[in-house]
Amino acid sequence: METSSCRLERSGFSSPTFRPWRSTTARSAICIMCFMLREITITLTPCSVASQISRNTFIDSREMAPAAVKSADYLNADGTPNRDTSLNGPLAAGIPGSPAGLAYIAQHFGKLPLKKSVQPAIDLAEKGVHPTTSLMHSIEQRADVLRRYAASTAKFFPNGKAPTTNDIFRDEAQARTLKTFAEKGADGFYKGEVAEEMVAAVKAAGGTWTTADLASYQTRERTPIELTYNGYKIITAPPVSSGGVVVGEVLNILAGIDLKSLDQAHRIHYEVEAMRRAFRDHNEYLGDPDFVKMPMDMLLSPYYADGLRQSILPEQATKSAWLPAVHAKEPGMHTTHFSIIDADGNMVSMTCTVNTTLGSAFVAGKSGVLLNNEMDDFALVAGQPNAFGLIGGDANAPVAGKRMLSSMTPSFVIGKDRLAVIGTPGGSTIMTQVLEGMLAFMDGKSAPEITAQKRFHHQYLPDTVEIEPGSLPADVIAKLKAMGHDVREREPWGNMNVVVWDKTTNTKTAASDPRSKAGLGKVQVIR
Ligand code: DON
Repeated sequence: METSSCRLERSGFSSPTFRPWRSTTARSAICIMCFMLREITITLTPCSVASQISRNTFIDSREMAPAAVKSADYLNADGTPNRDTSLNGPLAAGIPGSPAGLAYIAQHFGKLPLKKSVQPAIDLAEKGVHPTTSLMHSIEQRADVLRRYAASTAKFFPNGKAPTTNDIFRDEAQARTLKTFAEKGADGFYKGEVAEEMVAAVKAAGGTWTTADLASYQTRERTPIELTYNGYKIITAPPVSSGGVVVGEVLNILAGIDLKSLDQAHRIHYEVEAMRRAFRDHNEYLGDPDFVKMPMDMLLSPYYADGLRQSILPEQATKSAWLPAVHAKEPGMHTTHFSIIDADGNMVSMTCTVNTTLGSAFVAGKSGVLLNNEMDDFALVAGQPNAFGLIGGDANAPVAGKRMLSSMTPSFVIGKDRLAVIGTPGGSTIMTQVLEGMLAFMDGKSAPEITAQKRFHHQYLPDTVEIEPGSLPADVIAKLKAMGHDVREREPWGNMNVVVWDKTTNTKTAASDPRSKAGLGKVQVIR
């Protein structure tokens, strides 16, 4: 948000706290160190002063496959998926989008020049920060891969060991790269010295990036998906995010059901059945709109949803295998979501990711840039699950210059009297978290209630209803099982950030997910 540089006076924002190795924004003081590694997807509505520039837009700075991408690089000799190349090292990294996206936002929507927005990041990279326990945990988790590469080792094991909370974690290489970016804008990252250093480092370690791949990266401004549900306007992420289509399809199916009249087990049953059908379509149809023709009119049509609703049995789970086939998790977590409303009514919902923990664990030489592992978000091997258990085919196959499908679902829900800015990390669960958060908001819940509510998730395959421990009473679980649902407990997931604006009282309330100690949901004056 620092990049759009709205004056955040009496504004509400909800974001993770500063995590220099992974986070990007929320205020200028915390736009930083690794932002160049992740794509961002942003929904942004400049200004509620309707007579001026009131419009919603979506900034897609998702990574792209390099020109020399080839499926064989992600297969073992026996034809099975190679999880190492798709998740670790330079082959796992897509051509980054964030720097282009941030520069675009600063240029088109910002009040502050990029140079000013980036300065606090440079200061933090130069002066350093005390690592949080979360960063220490990430380094421990990824140590084996980080130690494969000299620049990754130098960055994350200064003086030969991982930093502790008593140490100061500095990154001079990254500070240099940030300064070039601040001075020259996107060209400072995609052309010249920084680009050449990254390409040389990637190539030396077996990757395929070229300077032409970087120089040709383009941010895309897209039209967000808009729909109405129970009198609320939903504004959400279009492809190459899959979230808006999935959330839209689920809400269209649910629109014909009086959820309030149902007991908890049946409410969950209908929501799960809608998720199942929408995720099936996700697997079959969705991909980069610049490459794939998607039947958006059908997928978001209320009539199509009517048909899907009719196929739901009131007392029995539909087995995913009964639906027309498309083609099952151990995700790491390195995604961040910011929800912001400023004093002028500008709203930003922004999700950023390097994909799994510390991305590819590959630092591109002296640039200091830690590269993502977003290539795993492509359907690298048709019919085989990615790190989040998502399966795809042609629509999301890797092709030179194509963007990989994302689950990121930054969204707005706009009612007559209240509105919400909402989003979260969590891989494939992002879509169901956002959906459940929207439903809770429309049921009148407050920001803290929305972020705290227990979650469940179904994504067509694997055909299981995942629930957070202790989230459902035994009799509800028993009823769901009796209907044929395979209900399984899993560790809690997500890190949602929500801001709610009650226009009747002009009150903004912000909340961060209680599952994360690092949340920073608050309403405050920032000048
Ligand atoms: O774009 C996507 O869908 C994934 N790269 C998101 C990964 C994610 O949310 C991991 N962290 N929680």
